[in-house]
Parts: sequence; C-alpha cells; structure tokens
Amino acid sequence: METLEGMPRTHHCGKISKADVGKEVVVCGWVSRRRDHGGLIFVDLRDRSGLVQTVYAEDKMGKDTFPKAESLRSEYVIAVRGKVSLRSTDTINPHMQTGEVEIYCEELRILNISKTPPFYIQDNIDTDETLRLKYRYLDLRRPEMQKNIILRHRVTKIMRDYFDRNDFLEIETPMLTKSTPEGARDFLVPSRLNPGKFYALPQSPQIFKQILMLAGYEKYFQIVRCFRDEDLRADRQPEFTQLDVEMSFVDQEYILNTMENMIVELFDKAIGAKVPGPFLRMTWQDAMDRFGSDKPDMRFGMELMDISEYVRGSQFKVFESVLQNGGQVKVINVAGYANIPRRELDGLVEYVKTYGAKGLAWIQYTETEIKSPFKKFYSEEIFAKIKSAVGAKTGDLLLVVADKPLIVAQALGALRLEMARRRNLIDPDKLSFLWVIDFPMFEYDENENRWKAMHHPFTAPCDEDVQYLLTDPGRVKAKAYDMVLNGTEIGGGSLRIYNSDLQEKVFEAIGLTPEQARSKFGFMLDAFQYGTPPHGGLAFGLDRLVMLMAKCDSIRDVIAFPKTQSASCLMTQAPSDVDNKQLRELSIKTTIAGKKHKED
Ligand code: AMO
Ligand code: AMP
Repeated sequence: METLEGMPRTHHCGKISKADVGKEVVVCGWVSRRRDHGGLIFVDLRDRSGLVQTVYAEDKMGKDTFPKAESLRSEYVIAVRGKVSLRSTDTINPHMQTGEVEIYCEELRILNISKTPPFYIQDNIDTDETLRLKYRYLDLRRPEMQKNIILRHRVTKIMRDYFDRNDFLEIETPMLTKSTPEGARDFLVPSRLNPGKFYALPQSPQIFKQILMLAGYEKYFQIVRCFRDEDLRADRQPEFTQLDVEMSFVDQEYILNTMENMIVELFDKAIGAKVPGPFLRMTWQDAMDRFGSDKPDMRFGMELMDISEYVRGSQFKVFESVLQNGGQVKVINVAGYANIPRRELDGLVEYVKTYGAKGLAWIQYTETEIKSPFKKFYSEEIFAKIKSAVGAKTGDLLLVVADKPLIVAQALGALRLEMARRRNLIDPDKLSFLWVIDFPMFEYDENENRWKAMHHPFTAPCDEDVQYLLTDPGRVKAKAYDMVLNGTEIGGGSLRIYNSDLQEKVFEAIGLTPEQARSKFGFMLDAFQYGTPPHGGLAFGLDRLVMLMAKCDSIRDVIAFPKTQSASCLMTQAPSDVDNKQLRELSIKTTIAGKKHKED
C-alpha cells in the first residue's frame, strides 16, 4: 500500500468546478464506478463532498504505471494528482454536480484495497435492510445516507444556536439513574459496587430537568439520549434522542411560542422550508372526534362524522345495541370510491378488526343504486338524509363503524389513513403542523385496572379540575400539549406540578401509596419543599423530526447505528453473551434454561 506522503489533498471531489479548469489538484476517496475502455479508464471518485470523474490514459501515464489504474476495483481507496479539464460538450453529465469537468491523472496512489462490497454503494438500492445494517459502514457511504447524517448535524447545530441565543443553558444529566415506575419499561444496569442493586438508563431527563428549575437555572435544554424498553416500530427505537427543554416562570403560551419559533427557524435554515405560523391548535377531544387520533394527519380531510342520530331507533340490532350502550355510529367519506371492489371491502372488514372494531358496514352511493349491508332496515329517505348530512355525493363511499367512542376513533382513524394512502390523497411535500392541547390527565389501564398518567405524573392538572382528582379522574384535563407533524407526534410536554401536596395527590390518583411514592420519588418530593418555581417544558423526538425533514419512512435511516425491530445491532451483534466472570462480579445469575455463558 502507498501513503499520502508528499501528496497532500488539495480539493474535495464534489467541489471541483469549471473555475478549477487548468489547475493541478490532488483528490482522495473511494472508487465508486469504473469503466474500462481499453487504454482509457474512467473512475468516478467519491469522498464526503460528492463525486468527480478521473481519467487514466495509457499514453499519458505510461506503460509502467497504467496497469495500476487497470487494477482499480470498487471501493479501493486512492489519491489522484492531475489536471482539471473541461469535458467536451457531448460528454457533459448534467446529473452530476461536477459533470462539466474531469481530472486527467498524472499520479495515482493506491492507499488501500477493498473486498467486493455486498451491495452497490449508491442511492435507491433495492437491498434487504438486514444486509444494510450488518454492513452499516458501507451503507453509510451511500450519498442518501450521508445526506441524512449531515442534515442531522445541521439540525442539532441550528437548535443549539437558537437556544443559546434565547438564554438557555445546555446542561447534562446522568445516564445512570434511579428506576421509577410509569412510562415504558426501564433498561437496567447492575451495580458491581452495590450488589443486587440496579441503575436505570433514563427514559428522559424529566425529573432532573425539573430539579434544575428548582435549582435556579431557569432555562435549560439538552440534546440527550433516552432509553425505553418497549415494542419497536418504524418510528421507535430503544435508544433515541430528544431535544429536551424546560423553563421557569412561564405560561403555556410562552412555551408553545418558544418551541414554535424554533421549529419555524429550523425548517427554514435546515431545509429551506417556509412554515407558516402560528400553528393550528386543536383540543385533544376535537382531534379524537374529527380525526380519530391524538396525532391527526392534516394533509387531507376525510373527517369522521357522527350519523348516530340518523340511524337510531331501527330494527338493525348492530347499531341499536351499540347506541343503547352509550356507543356511537360514525363514518368517513371516501370520495369517488362507491365502486370499490367487493374483495377490497372484505379486506377492510378484517383491517378494522385489528383495531378492535367488531365489524365494518358501508354505504355505496353508486350512479344506479344505494348498496349497504343495512339497506333493508332504513328508508331511502334516511339514506338521502345521511348523504346530505355528511356532504357526500353520488359516487362516494361511506365506511361505517359502530362501537364505543374510543374503538370508533381507533378503527376509523386508522382506516382514514389507510384509505388516504390507497387513494393517493397525501401530498408528500406538504408540512402540516399543529398543536394538540388539553389532553386528559389520566387514561384507564384495563389490564392493570387503574388510572395511569397519560403524559407523566408530574404534569399539572387544569386548575378547575383539581377537585376531581380522586373522585372522577376521567374528567380531569391536563396542562399538556403535543406538537404533531404530518400525523407523527414529534414532541410533547406540559406545565408541571410545583407543589408537593398536589404532587402527592396525583400519585394517589394513579394508585401509588404514600410509602411507594416516598420510596420512588421521595428525593423529588423533598426537593419540592425548597421553593420550586412554576415551570414547564417539552421534548422533541429528534430522530422523528429529522426523519420527516429528510422524507424517510423509518427513523433507522437518520440514525448512524440503529437497532432492529428486535432491539439488536446487526453490525456488533449486541446484545450478546458475557463471561460468567462478569456475571459473578455483578452478583447476577440468569434463569434462561440451558443458557451457557462463555467459560472464563
Ligand atoms: P415523551 O415521552 O412524549 O415526553 O417523548 C418526547 C418525544 O420523544 C419521541 N419519542 C421517541 N422517538 C423515538 N423512539 C422512541 N422510542 C420514542 N419515544 C418517544 C417522540 C415524543 O414526542 N419527558 C417528557 C417530555 C416533557 O414532558 O417535557 C417526554 O419524554 O417524538
Ligand atoms: P352481523 O349481524 O354481525 O352479521 O352484522 C351485520 C352487518 O353489520 C355486517 O355485515 C357489517 O356490515 C355490519 N356490522 C357488524 N358490526 C359492525 C360494527 N361494529 N360497526 C359497523 N358495522 C357493523
């Protein structure tokens, strides 16, 4: 192998332009594509800045050194000294940033060779993600991945600048912390020095940032890793990054404005997108009623509409029993799709069942007739009334779900998204932001038979609802808010409780005994007795935000080294077995039957 000794890099590949014609340059990088025309070889050379075409001519390089150019293969690492020339008009490549020029090689050094990569290092490859994750270092060489990682850098830089300019301090909080209940499952870390005891990795710096407020720091932010042991999806990772923010002596309006201004600036500076403010604000109740979701995708309409009043009091048992039990009958209008194939309808019935609905009905207002599974139970007049009430036209399809409000919302909310996808109603270039506000304080956990905090138990209840905390938790609203972009929750936060009596009452409402509250949160309750200022904040999911900015479908595409659905790293093979010696030091025995650890 050769070295760069005496031949330092002078230019980056993607930056060479017409202005450099005639100059002698040295570029370095990886062999991206190679075309051998016998006696004349073209190599697209790639570094972080992009590609440039290098040319190797036998008559220029000489018989002795030309074979070196012939030996080049994909992903070899080379340095090239040569002269920049203008390409002849017929060989200009308009798809390449440097497509007007090329470098005629005068000296070639092979700095390293490479095995043949398992996939092409180029955009739009049709390669199994498993392979991409195993060879992540090669995947990260691809221009689209580099673009995402560079965008991510720019995003955090703009965020830091914004908060610095607005008097926020970036303060680090511990990674080894105390396990607390609520939220997702913790990742635990055994303590060698305290046998049998465990740290937890932080699910978020929530308690620490609140304590920083009482410690007098007033405006805090941090770009911080969070860990949650939960089931993974395309927009969830076991470790992910938050832009975490907290402020003192502010009201909800101030927090929302500060965050909104940051987002507007961020989208402008990072991707040149002008986002018009102020963002729409919608109550949680409205979002559920109209879109069947607490994170509505507002890029299209197709709102849920209630037809209970039109179908009440019939012989149709399905609707009647739902309505008599406090349920509702709601529809979405899939415009222009009255002639949906029967097979697709059958498929949709199965689809809504996965969201808990017992069934799905429909009304097809075709040119010639009305088709519906409940046609015989209602007069034509009722069908006409429903049609005009929901603003449907001939040619439209109504999809109908009858159930308890939460199930109707889940099923029709999901169906609304699915039908919009199938009917191509979503403009991928649109950015639809909104704030969802006035969340319920608690939600009922049917499995555990108890109320749980919907956001987290440090969230302040609305003043007028405090009286119902213990008597009617279901009606208590919280001073909590989420920011939603294109149907994804990108951030959430709240005003906090800053009074330890109220905090204890909320712990009681979620079924923590005073002893449990003390053992889990005693340090916080104690701290709160030393002059806690009113405070509140929010955290954005950085990965999700960058994913949406980069128009990717998965947060894995904006994380350099992500984990799979089963929370493993295919490159390093983590998690993995450890030596028995390590386990002994930690006073740990596993109970996995037949599990063998590497002997020491
Ligand atoms: P929350 O739990 O809503 O709030 O998290 C804030 C934001 O983080 C993102 N997020 C995730 N991203 C990727 N993978 C995950 N597993 C994951 N979980 C959450 C979401 C979410 O909106 N401490 C509070 C914030 C506060 O009250 O200030 C908190 O963590 O985009
Ligand atoms: P069933 O009496 O269960 O056969 O249902 C008769 C028809 O009612 C079915 O074909 C469905 O179209 C419709 N249906 C059943 N359950 C529901 C439901 N929960 N919501 C809406 N329609 C339903």
